[in-house]
Amino acid sequence: MRLRDRLGLPPSMGIRTKLVLGVAFVHLLLMTIFVFDLVQRQREFLLAELSNRTLHHAQVLAVASSAWVLADDLVGMEEVLESGVRGGGVQYAMIVDPQGRVLAHTKREITGRFLIDRESRNALSGRQEPHVYFETEKSLYAAAPILVAGRLIGWSMLAVDKSATSEHLSYVTRTGLAYTMVAIGIGTLFALLLSRSILRQLRFLLRGVDNLHSNILDRPVQVVAEDEVGRVASAFNRALASLRSSLELLNREVIERKRAEEALRRLSRRQVGAIEEERKRIARDLHDELGQALSGMQFCLKSMQGEAERSNSSLEAPCQKLSSEVERMGVSIHRIANNLRPATLDHLGLLPAIEALIAEQLPAMGGKLSVKTDASGFRRRLPPDTEMIAYRIVQEGLNNVIKHSGASHVHLQLTVNHPNLIIAIHDDGMGIDGHRDGTVEGTFEHGIGLIGMQERAAAVGGKVDVKSRRRGGTTLRAELPYAEI
Ligand SMILES: Nc1ncnc2c1ncn2[C@@H]1O[C@H](COP(=O)(O)OP(=O)(O)O)[C@@H](O)[C@H]1O
Ligand SMILES: [Mg+2]
Repeated sequence: MRLRDRLGLPPSMGIRTKLVLGVAFVHLLLMTIFVFDLVQRQREFLLAELSNRTLHHAQVLAVASSAWVLADDLVGMEEVLESGVRGGGVQYAMIVDPQGRVLAHTKREITGRFLIDRESRNALSGRQEPHVYFETEKSLYAAAPILVAGRLIGWSMLAVDKSATSEHLSYVTRTGLAYTMVAIGIGTLFALLLSRSILRQLRFLLRGVDNLHSNILDRPVQVVAEDEVGRVASAFNRALASLRSSLELLNREVIERKRAEEALRRLSRRQVGAIEEERKRIARDLHDELGQALSGMQFCLKSMQGEAERSNSSLEAPCQKLSSEVERMGVSIHRIANNLRPATLDHLGLLPAIEALIAEQLPAMGGKLSVKTDASGFRRRLPPDTEMIAYRIVQEGLNNVIKHSGASHVHLQLTVNHPNLIIAIHDDGMGIDGHRDGTVEGTFEHGIGLIGMQERAAAVGGKVDVKSRRRGGTTLRAELPYAEI
């Protein structure tokens, strides 16, 4: 578990909070150690001083009372004790003989009794010099031998109040705590001022990042500091400037590319238009001129045949053969002209032209291929070039199915979904050669039929996709945007 979690701090702390908490914590820690150490030293010092004073006091009592003890003068001893207990926090004082009998006591009623507590008895049997023989929370007990010519004639004993020391120590502790608070306060203030100067630059940086996020690249970050954060802000500005210039370059390139694409599309459209025009012209010429000529020939041949029949000439049979040849030629020319430019498309529209196309192509398959056609959304005629391109795509698509797929069913779907005409041709054939491992996008690198479809579609801003699946057939999908007419 992390310290932050243990302290119950929120997961996302700001720099200011961290700085303030850190400084406050360090101040608290250092000041606590300092105050603790100070109080300990003070305690030792004060206790040493108190025990010195007490020992001195006991010795003074011992010296002052020795003559009175020697003379066994109780009044004298009591006077010495009286004057000895004045001031210095003495709780009581007494003079005892070496056996522990109280000769004189500041509390008179105790005079004559024997000391029975263990500490006092130990004190009497201890070393013959002033010493502290017992200590409690509140009091310090000392004894000094009363010696005359090196002979022990008694002990002066006294108890001193320690509470003054404790009070002083608690005063020192209180003052220490107050200083700790002041130190924390000053530290926090300092941390706040420091964080203000750091955060100011950071705030500008954050605003810059927000701007970047909202794609505003022309507003550099204001640099207000010369420290590391300031350097980061300058680096951010440099990165922003280079990003902006790269983007401008990219935009220019995109615009140029779009322009080039548009020009290419226009060219392509014109090319497709020109090809269609040319086909139309050739179809018309074939129909009008060759067709007319053939009709003339047919008429001549018919009358020649009639003449030969009447004159019973041997030319009748060749004339008949020639006439049926010319008739077949006429049919061929009609078919070629129709292929070049289906008249149905111009006169009746896309769907009838496609139906005619299917009706014309299917017999070539010997009834092995069934075609299902679905059309939806055709409410009115589409623009002529959209119809023409759609017709050519269906024509080439069906051709490919017949030529390459070996399919037995083909499903043709034509959907008008403004602004697009969508053509889908799905067959259940063998799939495109070389694309037999899974579904792939057509790459259009095999023949010119697919490339031609793509170019025609691109000329009106559309596209053609081919997907082929191993033994799962081929799906050709074209999307042709059209403008409503
Ligand atoms: N429906 C299809 N089923 C199987 N293979 C196809 C199909 N359509 C196209 N192909 C393959 O893609 C190639 C390219 O077709 P295309 O560009 O129309 O050229 P072409 O028909 O002149 O060969 C064809 O040669 C054929 O191998
Ligand atoms: Mg083809």
